[in-house]
Amino acid sequence: MSDGPITMEQILSDWARGAFLAAYPGTVPDGLSAGVVPTADEQFGDYQCNAAMALAKVLKKSPREIAAALAAAARPAAVERLEVAGPGFVNFFLDPEWMARRLEQVQADERLGVPEPGRGRTVVIDYSSPNVAKPMHIGHIRSTVIGNALDRLHRFLGWRVLADNHLGDWGTQFGLLIMGFRHFADPAAYESAPIDELERIYVKSYDKSKEDPAWLDAARAELVKLQQGDAGNRALWQSFVEHSLREFNRIYRRLDVSFDLVRGESHYNDRLPGIISKLREQELVRESEGALVVFLEDEKLPVCIVRKSDGAYNYAATDLATVTSRAEEFQPEAVIYVTDERQQLHFRQVFAIARKMGLATRLVHVWFGLMRLPEGTFSTRQGNVIKLERLLDEAEERALAIVKETSPQMDEARQREVARAVGIGAVKYADLSQNPQSLVTFTWEKALALEGNSAPYLQYACARIASVLDKYRERFPGGDPMAHPIRLGEPLERRLAVRLLRFPDAVVRAAEVYKPNLLADYLYELSQVYSAFYQNVPFLKAGEGVRESRVRLCDLVMKVLRRGLTLLGIETPDRI
Ligand code: ARG
Repeated sequence: MSDGPITMEQILSDWARGAFLAAYPGTVPDGLSAGVVPTADEQFGDYQCNAAMALAKVLKKSPREIAAALAAAARPAAVERLEVAGPGFVNFFLDPEWMARRLEQVQADERLGVPEPGRGRTVVIDYSSPNVAKPMHIGHIRSTVIGNALDRLHRFLGWRVLADNHLGDWGTQFGLLIMGFRHFADPAAYESAPIDELERIYVKSYDKSKEDPAWLDAARAELVKLQQGDAGNRALWQSFVEHSLREFNRIYRRLDVSFDLVRGESHYNDRLPGIISKLREQELVRESEGALVVFLEDEKLPVCIVRKSDGAYNYAATDLATVTSRAEEFQPEAVIYVTDERQQLHFRQVFAIARKMGLATRLVHVWFGLMRLPEGTFSTRQGNVIKLERLLDEAEERALAIVKETSPQMDEARQREVARAVGIGAVKYADLSQNPQSLVTFTWEKALALEGNSAPYLQYACARIASVLDKYRERFPGGDPMAHPIRLGEPLERRLAVRLLRFPDAVVRAAEVYKPNLLADYLYELSQVYSAFYQNVPFLKAGEGVRESRVRLCDLVMKVLRRGLTLLGIETPDRI
């Protein structure tokens, strides 16, 4: 784009900052962020600046006087008029001519005006990360869907992303698993449903260890052998990992999720002793009842055990080894971990210790609450992979019933294809459209609703716009909308334009605060404004020029919805 890809909020905030600095030279703090944000109510303009209130204290002037100074400054090209309101707000009304030209640039840009602030920057995103030989629970599923959206958002913003599936593939359960496998495995079951079979074996082996001390000793011995590299045990462990991954991969394929790295905890095993030595050298670790612990009083956190009294390294030690390894190998600016809320303390402790060790990398724990699922979908013991697959099957079946009703003329294979996209999209969107940190209950009615904030609603909106564009081509063969300028004559067109120009900010913001739901909210709002526009403004009946301008707006809405949904990992079938 000729103006350089920079978002509306940046354009307006930069201008306001410059204007404050010019109006009060030497007294306005250099680092002032003049945060210009969208207004909640459009009678107060399209954007507003609230900085006068904060500046009043620094400048010892009334907020209204400061706001008036801003409103009197030479306006930027994007703004038609500025207005002082209330105790010292400045309301911005965008210039329709400017918006029209800007939208024409956006339409010619395949990135739709979204900048690439991530260019030259690296981030590691640790997500999904299920445990080998155990079913994925709902926490892993949310981590997969939310983590993948953050992955896509960062990539689109130009970041070099390393999506790392940090498998739980190392731990004390492997001794019991190896014993169990040798004695109770059913090879056919292991082939057809490996995780169910491993779980069955594990439970049996665990129960036996409770009543038979010799069994427990033998399991411990197998674990030691595994850790010392015994070829037979290594091969068995490898097979558990591979079989589990095969099952996880089936889910990832259905969800269209892929990773750059699939490194389990085992990958960092050799680095564990080094971490302890480093902690000792830096005098960060103390002995306590045989265990090695780090005190985190300054951080007001409980002590963190890094090595247990039996000499075994724990989860915290593994994460310290992992983060230092990632920092060395990839030099990321940030590492993002996506897990459920139950791991908050763990990550606070790990991050605090990493900082004490001198690690400068920004470490972020994106946590989410556990989603409640419909009765019977998941077992009370947190559900398993097969049942997750059933949830996806059910989503596709229910979507198929809807597609058959809405598009009876479509051939069966196509109906199934659309139902897949709608069903999977519905499950993902039900998760992504919620604030990750709030408690939500999944219901089929809401996820698959054709009206309301759901994937099917947005997917149908895209398909309906596509058919409007088809109709134009049918009725006006040879017509070329792009040969006509965009005009924003009607209030509804203007309103739509304002929304369209907010797309880059929605994408940047969702990534910045790790909340894909902000993008979902934006898309839903855009589709509602579009729907008001489409229902109230004559379209194919409008005169030449106006008609083409409206076709161009439709095309832009469709492109923004498609791009936005793709960034959330949701497909948009051409026709529904
Ligand atoms: N495997 C862990 C679990 O299932 C999640 C791992 C998250 N990532 C990490 N680096 N600790 O709870």
